[in-house]
Amino acid sequence: MIDLETFRESFDGEPGYLDWAAFGPLSPSVRAEAQADTELLGSGRRTSIDLVAEHAFAARALVAELLGADTDQVTLQPSTTDGLMHALYGLSGGLLLSRGEFPALTVTATRARDALGRIDLQWVEPHDGRMTPDVVRDALTEETRAVAVSLVDYRTGYRTDLTALREVIGDRLLIVDAIQGFGVVEADYAAADVVAAHGYKWLRAGRGTGFAWFGERALERLSPVLSGRAGIDGDLPLDVVPLPAASAQAFTVSPVDTLAAARLATALRDVRDCGVAAISDELAQRTADVMYFADRYELPVLTPREPERRGGIVTLAPAPHEAAPLAASLANHGLTVTVRSGLVRVSPHVGTGADTLRLFGDALAAFAATRAW
Ligand SMILES: Cc1ncc(COP(=O)(O)O)c(C=O)c1O
Repeated sequence: MIDLETFRESFDGEPGYLDWAAFGPLSPSVRAEAQADTELLGSGRRTSIDLVAEHAFAARALVAELLGADTDQVTLQPSTTDGLMHALYGLSGGLLLSRGEFPALTVTATRARDALGRIDLQWVEPHDGRMTPDVVRDALTEETRAVAVSLVDYRTGYRTDLTALREVIGDRLLIVDAIQGFGVVEADYAAADVVAAHGYKWLRAGRGTGFAWFGERALERLSPVLSGRAGIDGDLPLDVVPLPAASAQAFTVSPVDTLAAARLATALRDVRDCGVAAISDELAQRTADVMYFADRYELPVLTPREPERRGGIVTLAPAPHEAAPLAASLANHGLTVTVRSGLVRVSPHVGTGADTLRLFGDALAAFAATRAW
């Protein structure tokens, strides 16, 4: 068991890292587990190989626990996109989504439509990038069969209200890309039908640690068109091709990477033990700290001010001529952030310390000092 203090102290990377929305440096427990399991897989003992393989079930059970779902409905995936591919290729009819979504959704949806010809893409272009319940309500049509959305928008940091979306969409499918929020914000996952995510950012588990949950309605309505040899019940079929499993396991391709599953299980155990509510409250403080400095130096913030409408992302929208000097000042002060299309995305985590925030304040002060008013 670990408490919030121990969890916070486990952030042992260098000061200046404010890019958890891009990549999460691996936690000490994940690194230790990975090293130990690598040794076990080198032993040549069946028991050691089996021991590492057991992490796959543990990872699925922990995902299920955090979602409030059944372990049977959770699959391990190589990435978020892999999970979303299973969902989107399995759809028919209208799929409503924002053009501003991360390519894990937009590219996958387009490829699925082009390949299968039975999906009609209903693009939405919200003026501020936010998929609010009102925006979704106005865009729904009789043909809409599913809505796909990010739990936390990777550009603006807006956190979707899943409960309100469910009320708006009725019994259509709600497919959620949760990578930017899973484990760090509390969400009403029961309102969703599919939740896909990946542990390489906020969970600090490294790449290869994707997962996807398929609820009852999703299992009834999605066809497992990308089902592979892992998506069947029973042992290795010989000389026959069985039907895909009736369960969520149908939405898998090949046996899991057990080392990745071990990293995921370890990371999730830490999150579960610390508690998502405690993590979320603490993260809201760190994002408020970032906003405090932005306000102090009069940098517009795109991210919602209400803690319940954001996760760990704070997006600054400097005036167009100020984006480059701001980015330069941040880099000169040893800060890692994401700068894209004139926006500066700052993403702290629970363990972001006073040293990093001080550097951030210094960088903004230095930038402001050179500002041409
Ligand atoms: C919203 C969103 N979805 C998905 C991903 C990554 O997808 P994958 O897990 O397939 O690499 C990112 C990465 O930045 C993201 O921001």
